[in-house]
Amino acid sequence: MPKVAALHKAAAKAARRRSRAAASSSPAPLSVVILAAGEGKRMKSALPKVLQPLAGRPLLKHVIDTARELEPAAIHVVHGTGADAVRAALADEPVRWTLQEPRLGTGHALGKALPHIPDSHVVLVLYGDVPLISRATLTRLLAARRTGIALLTMRLDDPQGYGRVVRARGVVRRIVEEADASAAHRAIRECNTGILAAPARLLRRWLKVLSNDNAQREYYLTDVIARAVAERVPVTPLPAASASETLGVNDKAQLAQLEAAWRERTARRLMLAGVTVADPARLDVRGELTHGADVFLDVNVVLEGRVTLGDGVRVGPGCLIRDSEIGAHTEVFAHCVVDQTVIGPNCNIGPFARFRPRSALAAGVHTGNFVEVKNAALGADSKANHLAYVGDARLGARVNIGAGTIIANYDGANKHRTVIEDDVHTGSNSVLVAPITVGAGATIGAGSTVTHEVPAGKLTLARARQSTIEGWQRPCKRPAAQAEPVEHSGVKQTK
Ligand code: UD1
Ligand code: CA
Repeated sequence: MPKVAALHKAAAKAARRRSRAAASSSPAPLSVVILAAGEGKRMKSALPKVLQPLAGRPLLKHVIDTARELEPAAIHVVHGTGADAVRAALADEPVRWTLQEPRLGTGHALGKALPHIPDSHVVLVLYGDVPLISRATLTRLLAARRTGIALLTMRLDDPQGYGRVVRARGVVRRIVEEADASAAHRAIRECNTGILAAPARLLRRWLKVLSNDNAQREYYLTDVIARAVAERVPVTPLPAASASETLGVNDKAQLAQLEAAWRERTARRLMLAGVTVADPARLDVRGELTHGADVFLDVNVVLEGRVTLGDGVRVGPGCLIRDSEIGAHTEVFAHCVVDQTVIGPNCNIGPFARFRPRSALAAGVHTGNFVEVKNAALGADSKANHLAYVGDARLGARVNIGAGTIIANYDGANKHRTVIEDDVHTGSNSVLVAPITVGAGATIGAGSTVTHEVPAGKLTLARARQSTIEGWQRPCKRPAAQAEPVEHSGVKQTK
């Protein structure tokens, strides 16, 4: 054989070897199964357990979001209790729904999803009521798995209620549920998180032969561990790094505990990113916060949905900000509600101001106490410092809304718009009946109710003229003898 051809042949052989090696080491496709059919009796709530909100998101949505980060071939959700409500609440999620009815245990639940998963896939089992499991831990679990089962465990000071991981000479032998545990088993502190990964092919075989011969008359998924051991299939235990991410939610007390864990985790992340948080235990972020440098968040601030805070923004105590944007160096004083509003830079907001959806403030706007703004745009440097309602309106620049000004936007049937041009001043206690336009530089006298266009640059008054009645006398009291007696608790009184 010519030398060059021989070299080619050898190279081709090596390439084939490399590709075979790559194929055998490349991970099998992943299918995630989330068990979420349980009743959640201990929640004592009309809302199915997996829809109970944690940080503003249903428990099950947390698990689905984390599962999606793993980019699996498919996510199957086994549901049962409140099936219609669960599917409706999470209708947009890219998951496959499998109904489990009746509910005969975790092994039975997984058995409902398995027919839809090919033999060649690795199955990762997650629980709809274990919401804080992290992608990092799941990635470690999948990497730790050899050919058999990888099992996520946790060490608890108070393991009550959890399945215990029974080891012999350090090797995992089986899992014993609390209800079936002997005193010796109950003393074990290594617990089953419920989360495991195993080939679909093996799970299918093992689930077929599960029995419900146990204290709860259920088909336990946990029994597959003893099966694997009996067949000498490797079981790789992986202790979770932190207990909080593997804790389950069974009642409202545990829900609050996980909310606290979430709060701590979120506040820590923000502080490490440079946000000053007055008290990490009193900040609730129920969504996504984007922030600049030197942001300050005082106690009891609640941020919901998508919130953006620019450089140097300060948010005072007790504020609720939802789906809004606040520009650089704006200060929001205590107890404001800001909902679907864009606030420009260098504004002063509150205390006690309320912004309803579709409001927009340009730079340098001041809105003070008991001012309500709805579907309104306020131009640069405009002010509404006290007691006002600004609804369905467009204000120009440098407008001054006097205390007690009301934009009467609603005629009892329809809403109408108001336009207030630049440099307008409205006097205290004026009512602007929409639809109306107030021309640039106009002044409206205090106490006016304006119902027609207000011309630019002039003073407009729309109120009764002040008058004084000469010779008028105050009424005086009648003499006591003429007063009528009044019956009161059986005692005659005169008033
Ligand atoms: C389960 C484990 C236990 C583990 C604990 C961790 C079993 C038998 N036990 O116990 O070892 O320590 O989780 O949190 O697996 N589910 C269904 N269908 C059913 C029953 C349950 O979908 O028929 C779902 C539930 O909605 C829940 C999950 O499976 O998301 C766990 O069920 P649950 O009844 O809470 O099991 P535990 O008693 O907590
Ligand atoms: Ca549980």
